[in-house]
Amino acid sequence: MRRILAGLVSGVVLSALAVAFGPPASAVPGQNLLPAPPMGWNSWNKFGCAIDENLIRQTADAMAGGGMRDAGYRYLNIDDCWMAPQRDANDDLQPDPKRFPHGIAALADYAHARGLKLGIYSSAGTRTCAGFPASLDHEKADARKFAQWGVDYLKYDNCNNENRPAIQRYQAMSDALRATGRPIVLSLCEWGSNQPWKWGARYGELWRTTDDIKDSWLSFTGILDQQVGLEQYSGPNAWNDPDMLEVGNGHMSDTEYRAHFSLWALLNAPLIAGNDLRSSDPATAKILRNRDLIAVDQDWGGKQGHKIRDDGDVEVWAKPMSDGSAAVVLFNRGTTPADVAVRAADLGVRHAGRYRVRDLWTGEESHSTGDLHGTVASHGAVVYRVWPGGGARTPLTTLALNAPELADAARPFTVTTTLHNDGAPMLHEGSARLSVPSGWAVDNGPTVTLPRTKDVWTHQWTVRPVGVPPAGPVTLTASASFGVAGQAVTRSAAAPVTVATAPPAGSSQVSALPFVSSSNGWGPVERNTSNGEAEAGDGHPITIAGVRYPTGLGAHAPSSVRVFLGGSCRAVTAKVGVDDETSGGTVAFEVWGDGKRLASTGVVRHGDAAVPLTADVTGVSVVDLRVTDGGDDTAYDHADWAGAAVDC
Ligand code: GLA
Repeated sequence: MRRILAGLVSGVVLSALAVAFGPPASAVPGQNLLPAPPMGWNSWNKFGCAIDENLIRQTADAMAGGGMRDAGYRYLNIDDCWMAPQRDANDDLQPDPKRFPHGIAALADYAHARGLKLGIYSSAGTRTCAGFPASLDHEKADARKFAQWGVDYLKYDNCNNENRPAIQRYQAMSDALRATGRPIVLSLCEWGSNQPWKWGARYGELWRTTDDIKDSWLSFTGILDQQVGLEQYSGPNAWNDPDMLEVGNGHMSDTEYRAHFSLWALLNAPLIAGNDLRSSDPATAKILRNRDLIAVDQDWGGKQGHKIRDDGDVEVWAKPMSDGSAAVVLFNRGTTPADVAVRAADLGVRHAGRYRVRDLWTGEESHSTGDLHGTVASHGAVVYRVWPGGGARTPLTTLALNAPELADAARPFTVTTTLHNDGAPMLHEGSARLSVPSGWAVDNGPTVTLPRTKDVWTHQWTVRPVGVPPAGPVTLTASASFGVAGQAVTRSAAAPVTVATAPPAGSSQVSALPFVSSSNGWGPVERNTSNGEAEAGDGHPITIAGVRYPTGLGAHAPSSVRVFLGGSCRAVTAKVGVDDETSGGTVAFEVWGDGKRLASTGVVRHGDAAVPLTADVTGVSVVDLRVTDGGDDTAYDHADWAGAAVDC
């Protein structure tokens, strides 16, 4: 019964369980507003200041009608920019009359009628971050207004705070909210500047731990890195907040969004969707409504998960669950798929001869005798929940396909398939197959016999070019079919390979070469323009300290651009700097070759003259042009690689 509950029960029932099984520590005395991390939606990540009451009503309808509310998403949160530019004649905050003509109370009623709660936003400063009136020294009156309107949640920001002590400012609002008598969640948004994990629980239910998230892989992983060690401060009514979800906003792949959601659930993070819920595509909806992961996030014990292993690109994160099981995330930051193994004994679950294993993305149930393998896509996550004892008759089996990231179109290459059997019964004899794209063939044919297997079976294949295969990205797939525990099972695996024809010859502009991969703090890396706003092709002419450059790359920290050189080039050169189009920004430029740093600039500031950068890339197969935030944050970090060229 317990097991069934743990696996299937929704966040709503889990909160009820929290009360029944309790007792969750009440962070703010007398209040038990968030025994589990909050779930809901917030307008900022997708809409910024482009918000009005129609958007909020339509989002309420989408949440109530589209399955989000029933999956546990309850808070409908309006972020910055809902206010009129001035307070009213009574010195009260008022909504913008054009965009919110019916007022906030009407929206609260609208939300409540649909089983939702309404959240609103202000700043512990004189103005919000977008420059609207905010609540510093108006705490009592503003809290009363929020309560009168029927608001259930306040996100309280940190802009324009006049350098007054954070604790004072947040305490003032906390006291004011409590004095209203209406239970209102207080979400402290002071960006982790004053270690709020050490004091936030006295005043509110959750606190941001970092700067703002952006819809990019490097932003998501950068924030993840800053959560290490904070797990000790989190618990019922006192949650670390690594910021809202970017799932569905379009600048990461679904694989990356699944990893983002998996890790946020493991961290007991608030699950506050940040996309347009009126038009979630099916893949996004499936991620956000993954009930198994929501159950991990909302587990009534409220123990935040943490990193238990870091092998560089591969990380293992685990979270103890209240029913004696554990959730484990196998995370791969690398550019190729990873074959990852962990032992149930390392997850903190009770020792047992056998474990029940549930894959929380596929729903597949199996058993293991102790080892847990997972094949994790590049930038992906595999999540298992592991219970001591029991489990399906079928063993946990996984197939990994190990291929080089780059293949030379003129040469054969080898790939390896590895089949792991983590369960008790032997796998019966079967067959395995490797499929290759056109222009390539497998030596000795694409099919081999798979012998009876106890633990592991590996096989190496040679893939040979037939004629001249086309350059560009291709996918290799492998499958293994066998019988076990009375069932026919097929496992498959895929590996992306980039086929490179001749490496660049002579001198080439980097902006004219294909990228092996690229990632960027804000929108895509631009070719021959600055980073611009957020979309491809919206940059301006590359300009550093008043000088314009016709070619180069327009990046935004943190950024990485990888280019194939095939060991046949001598030097990479560029003039680097922060683009004039911003009003600030400090960055550092680095050139890496095959995982080693070859050259770097140190900190470069907005307004500095372009810095000449040269790296010796003799023998380097893949060069990586990286930009870091220069040691502060990524605000205004528009970084130009003006005239970036390779000499081969
Ligand atoms: C800050 C917060 C964001 C968002 C904006 C609104 O940057 O950290 O989450 O609320 O302000 O202006």
